[in-house]
Amino acid sequence: MKECVFIDGIRTANARAHKEKGWFKNVRPDQLLETLYKAMFERNPKVKPEMIEGSFIGAANLSGMQNDIGRASWLAAGLPESIPTQSVCNQCPSGMSATMNAARAIMTGEVDIMLSGGVEDMEKVPMGYAMDMSPNLMKRYNVGDLGMGMTAEKVADIYNVSVDDMIEFAVYSNEMAKKARDEGKFANEIIPVKGHKEDGTEFDVIHDQWIRESTDPVAMKAMKTPFKENGKISAALSSPLTAGAALLLLMSRDKADELGLSYTYKYKFGAQAGNDPTVMGIGPIFSTKILFEKTGLTPDDIGAVELNEAFASQSLVCVRELKLDNPKPPFTKVNTWGGAIALGHPLGESGARVLVTLLNRMKTDYPDAKYGLATLCGGFGNSNAVVIEKV
Ligand SMILES: CC(C)(COP(=O)(O)OP(=O)(O)OC[C@H]1O[C@@H](n2cnc3c(N)ncnc32)[C@H](O)[C@@H]1OP(=O)(O)O)[C@@H](O)C(=O)NCCC(=O)NCCS
Repeated sequence: MKECVFIDGIRTANARAHKEKGWFKNVRPDQLLETLYKAMFERNPKVKPEMIEGSFIGAANLSGMQNDIGRASWLAAGLPESIPTQSVCNQCPSGMSATMNAARAIMTGEVDIMLSGGVEDMEKVPMGYAMDMSPNLMKRYNVGDLGMGMTAEKVADIYNVSVDDMIEFAVYSNEMAKKARDEGKFANEIIPVKGHKEDGTEFDVIHDQWIRESTDPVAMKAMKTPFKENGKISAALSSPLTAGAALLLLMSRDKADELGLSYTYKYKFGAQAGNDPTVMGIGPIFSTKILFEKTGLTPDDIGAVELNEAFASQSLVCVRELKLDNPKPPFTKVNTWGGAIALGHPLGESGARVLVTLLNRMKTDYPDAKYGLATLCGGFGNSNAVVIEKV
């Protein structure tokens, strides 16, 4: 088997998906990807578009402006028609699945140079847009139990996660994200995109819009619980509606050496798991356990973890059940630059975004760590986990 190394990882900032307040309200999701393609080739001048052997792009909803967005955005960017592209969908893990598919193709020797990534604009293509659920699926499950918010409520109930613990987790996510932003930690991964403020002013979007300047636990506790009357999960304990894109450049180690490109990490292993969709948020427990079993790695071997924060309840349960870190913040390994509650979660983008941030975070803050883990859950009970290794 060949080795697959990460040459680069970039993303747009994550903006609020909102008709008036969203900084990308006038930018289409395919344009976000176009910006990243161009930036990737500018940052890596030794890699020409004609050299790419495939681009796999994840999106959780491949309809409307995101219909076959992997192909549409490539052609719209004026890139060579001869390069094959593929849009990949398995809900939130889509961007990670796209990257796993690309890495596996390189490792088998079928190809040498691939792009992978993810994109979603949850305002222009809202969650569940054009969905027509199978009647047999609705016979098997109560459709109300499959809504993401309801699954987060159920996880909080089953595992007895307190509202106070979830608030502490969400406050930590915001504080870490704000600190990382203010220290310029995201500068290497965020590519500026022209956006608009609520008053129409145009500006370069270089920061994630959802990061809160301050968080007040008392106000958070008083927020309504939109998914369930007298429930536990509020907007403050959920990943918010978001727009954004992420892109990675992967290469066989041989090809990278031949081109004289530098790299620090390689793709070691990826695992996927299915689980009960009514508690979809605990999916990373299953995919990460498979990954640990098959690689022989243990949580102690992992230096840094990016765990996508779909909701505070499922995030805390995954950290605790997998023993990835302390049972509560502050953490030493998990999401120390914040997570999706603060950074946003553009569904199909996030699986690629956590890998981009993991690569950047390990290089910056954990230079001695050998392994890094990225994992996330997905609607209908799909989860992915990937471990990267320092070369
Ligand atoms: C929770 C949810 C329903 C809220 O949506 P919404 O009612 O349309 O509300 P918005 O997201 O527009 O806004 C939430 C409000 O709460 C506020 N809020 C969020 N966190 C807060 C905090 N910590 N303290 C105070 N206010 C907070 C926001 O600022 C916003 O208010 P504003 O418009 O005045 O700025 C929506 O974000 C959601 O569905 N999230 C989950 C998405 C999902 O399922 N993803 C997939 C996971 S697998």
